[in-house]
Amino acid sequence: MTKIYLLALVVVYNFCFSAGISMNGVSTIPPVLNIGAVFALNSTIGKVAKVAIEAAVEDVNSNPAILGGTKLKLTVHDTNYSRFLGMVEALTLLENETVAIIGPQFSVIAHLVSHIANEFQVPLLSFAATDPSLSSLQYPFFVRTTQSDLYQMAAIADIVDYFGWRNVIALYVDDDHGRNGIAALGDKLAEKRCRLSHKVPLSPKGSRNQIIDTLLTVSSMMSRILILHTYDIWGLEVLNAAKHLRMMESGYVWIVTDWLSSILDTDSQLHSEKMDDIQGVLTLRMYTQSSEEKRKFVTRWRHLTRRNTLNGPIGLNSFGLYAYDTLWLLAHAIGAFFDQGGNISFSEDSKLSELSRGDMRFSSVSIFNGGKMLLDNILQVNMTGVTGPIKFTSDRDLINPAYEVINVIGTGSRRIGYWSNHSGLSVVPPEALYKEPSNRSASSQHLYSAVWPGQTTQKPRGWVFPNNGRHLRIGVPSQVIYPEFVAQGKGTDKFSGYCIDVFTAVLELLPYAVPYKLVPFGDGHNSPKRFDLLRLVSEEVSMKRKKIFFNLVILFAILANGGFLVPCRSMTLQ
Ligand SMILES: *[C@@H]1O[C@H](CO)[C@@H](O)[C@H](O)[C@H]1NC(C)=O
Ligand SMILES: *[C@@H]1O[C@H](CO)[C@@H](O)[C@H](O)[C@H]1NC(C)=O
Ligand SMILES: *[C@@H]1O[C@H](CO)[C@@H](O)[C@H](O)[C@H]1NC(C)=O
Ligand SMILES: *[C@@H]1O[C@H](CO)[C@@H](O)[C@H](O)[C@H]1NC(C)=O
Ligand SMILES: *[C@@H]1O[C@H](CO)[C@@H](O)[C@H](O)[C@H]1NC(C)=O
Ligand SMILES: *[C@@H]1O[C@H](CO)[C@@H](O)[C@H](O)[C@H]1NC(C)=O
Ligand SMILES: *[C@@H]1O[C@H](CO)[C@@H](O)[C@H](O)[C@H]1NC(C)=O
Repeated sequence: MTKIYLLALVVVYNFCFSAGISMNGVSTIPPVLNIGAVFALNSTIGKVAKVAIEAAVEDVNSNPAILGGTKLKLTVHDTNYSRFLGMVEALTLLENETVAIIGPQFSVIAHLVSHIANEFQVPLLSFAATDPSLSSLQYPFFVRTTQSDLYQMAAIADIVDYFGWRNVIALYVDDDHGRNGIAALGDKLAEKRCRLSHKVPLSPKGSRNQIIDTLLTVSSMMSRILILHTYDIWGLEVLNAAKHLRMMESGYVWIVTDWLSSILDTDSQLHSEKMDDIQGVLTLRMYTQSSEEKRKFVTRWRHLTRRNTLNGPIGLNSFGLYAYDTLWLLAHAIGAFFDQGGNISFSEDSKLSELSRGDMRFSSVSIFNGGKMLLDNILQVNMTGVTGPIKFTSDRDLINPAYEVINVIGTGSRRIGYWSNHSGLSVVPPEALYKEPSNRSASSQHLYSAVWPGQTTQKPRGWVFPNNGRHLRIGVPSQVIYPEFVAQGKGTDKFSGYCIDVFTAVLELLPYAVPYKLVPFGDGHNSPKRFDLLRLVSEEVSMKRKKIFFNLVILFAILANGGFLVPCRSMTLQ
């Protein structure tokens, strides 16, 4: 008899618990919690994230230690690439008493949806919106569960500095994501005393011809260090156009943000023509340390994507790992929220009801009363996932930002090193350095050597004189007084002599090419007057190149006037 009572009690207790009815009859913990997800299902990141998040929901729901009897009910909405759809889909999700939204994927949409999240106090957890400006206090309900591009840009600035380049050109998609990322790059380069010499925006939906026009402008500029910060589908198009314009040849350096490594990871059978377009490119990949959890998940991935092999297998990219951990992070936070006595309840938004038009589409959207409390729990999560230890800093960034530096070679890619916020560039995995104090001295920075565009291992010089058909013209006295110093070959435009040898030897030593032309000056019999030449020069030479020209002119003029070797040697080329 007692046993039966006990059994009944257990059954009743379990029922009450799982139905979320506490013993005093007040509903606290519901049996089902609605969570939403908005991202572009057909994108490189989106198609991986969908599989990862669904797997995580399954895992959380089958593990009663996390949320007791409560089950998560995930609703996934496709934003495609549209900002407008992103807004509408988020609002639609909120109509169904959603406690948190995973996403959005695009920073541009995150800027818009964050306002909705603030209004209805529903936390947004984005595993892919990397725009640094989303960290701002303007968006309290936006939580970035991946690395901010602030760190990716710091990594790029360190790479530029490491190779000794000083001026770079940034090509970027002209929206919030591109602009704010490049603004961060500019700051990070400045910290390294490097310069973003040109910012070149690309239209988010630019045609092939627009891309070509833009690249032609870039090819006439001085810098050969090109940073490309855009999205998957347009990025490959830009690199393909660059290849056709011969901007993938030796001398050029392309550093491409992590959209490219995501494509390489996801699309393991990337068409060989596309691989040809990107030979020698450097790209970054968010670094996640190896662990038992990660290894298991990678093994499981093949099984998870077996059904989705319509367009070839879907490879796992690092955003997929962050997407999986995002759902777990949310589950842990909800667990802590319940432990603290949090209630799932919603109330009417007075702003909406004041409008009080019966036909308002979104009048049924209401405020999540526990939103602030859930948000606090999210920011306090301390767990280990497939991406490694997960915690937020006081600036709401994930701890330990780190990247792998990838060099595209042949049919694959090779890791030439790591970057971490803690110790900069290294060839050992970052976690090996976390125990030691941070050492960012130049001598502690290392990368393996790269194969650059044009299949060369020689480090590109980084810039050339602008390729606009103009040469530096060097006035050479045409006279026969000191042929050992300067002499013109009879009937040719070739010059020889000690001064010419010194000049060409100096040019060889410069870290960049200087196209020049030696122009005879004078009638060939009398010593030309130095001031005639100077006057000619100051009339003709553009301000920019005056300095080098003047020095050379003076060098030759001195020779013309008697050939003093001392001033000749002390002259500096600038
Ligand atoms: C999804 O992307 C593939 C190529 O990546 C494209 O062929 C297809 O049309 C896209 N589908 C939709 C619905 O946008
Ligand atoms: C997604 O957007 C692309 C381009 O804007 C369009 O071609 C495609 O049809 C859209 N797909 C869906 C499912 O709406
Ligand atoms: C809201 O929930 C209802 C019932 O579960 C479902 O039929 C409907 O599709 C949901 N709406 C959205 C936008 O998820
Ligand atoms: C949850 O609801 C119960 C009963 O209505 C209330 O006593 C408790 O204070 C609420 N908890 C929070 C955190 O609001
Ligand atoms: C986070 O968890 C780790 C390991 O579980 C523990 O060592 C550490 O003290 C925790 N940190 C905080 C701030 O709770
Ligand atoms: C990155 O490093 C800087 C300077 O050392 C530090 O202030 C910042 O908190 C670090 N960021 C993270 C997310 O660890
Ligand atoms: C940093 O690393 C360099 C090279 O490994 C070493 O010479 C230097 O002493 C280190 N500095 C500190 C402060 O540890």
